[in-house]
Amino acid sequence: MELVNIALPKGRLGEKVYQRLKAAGYPCPSIEEENRKLIFENPEAGVRYFWVKPSDVAIYVERGAADVGVAGKDILLEYSPDVYELADLGLGKCRMCVAGRRDFRDRTDRTLRVATKFPHIAARYYASRSRDIEIIKLNGSIEIAPILGLSDVIVDIVETGKTLLENDLEPKETIVPISARLIANKVSYKFKHEQIAALHRRVADTL
Ligand code: PRP
Repeated sequence: MELVNIALPKGRLGEKVYQRLKAAGYPCPSIEEENRKLIFENPEAGVRYFWVKPSDVAIYVERGAADVGVAGKDILLEYSPDVYELADLGLGKCRMCVAGRRDFRDRTDRTLRVATKFPHIAARYYASRSRDIEIIKLNGSIEIAPILGLSDVIVDIVETGKTLLENDLEPKETIVPISARLIANKVSYKFKHEQIAALHRRVADTL
């Protein structure tokens, strides 16, 4: 039987996801050894795992390099990959927020400058409220933008709120709650249906 290829997001979330998959009957002893390898397989359990950058999981799955994967809802909303979203794993919970300086007051007669790693999510959110904005696309340390006057607000992920607090910012509006999702490639879902459906069912049973 062909292995199911599973793209895991590298990092803390990925470790938790692997533990969930292990509990669901898909262990892979080699992945638990400390090393720098990126691909691991366990033919007995029928799986091949690989670690990829969290924001790349959806690309691997969309293009079929991975049959299934785990991606944050933030990535799915931002890139709208053509994949099936099978389950909410309830891990990596956080929210997408608008945040700004505590003393910031929105002046609706002006274009709002929004710094973000998520230009599509930000654009859709403000379009739905008919608010004119200018998007400033950044790649990290978004919190600095309003402090230095690069932007009026930011659209970013808030988990504990600590990063905002420590940078004298506060959440202003919640755009959408975020969590990790099990996703599948559409062609794989047809041709490896039994294996993927079984994995989906067994993971759902551990929720
Ligand atoms: C995210 C986000 C915030 C931080 C929020 O960054 O961009 O900076 O987490 O977490 P908190 O509310 O618990 O403080 P991440 O750690 O994903 O790093 P990145 O900005 O490099 O992607």
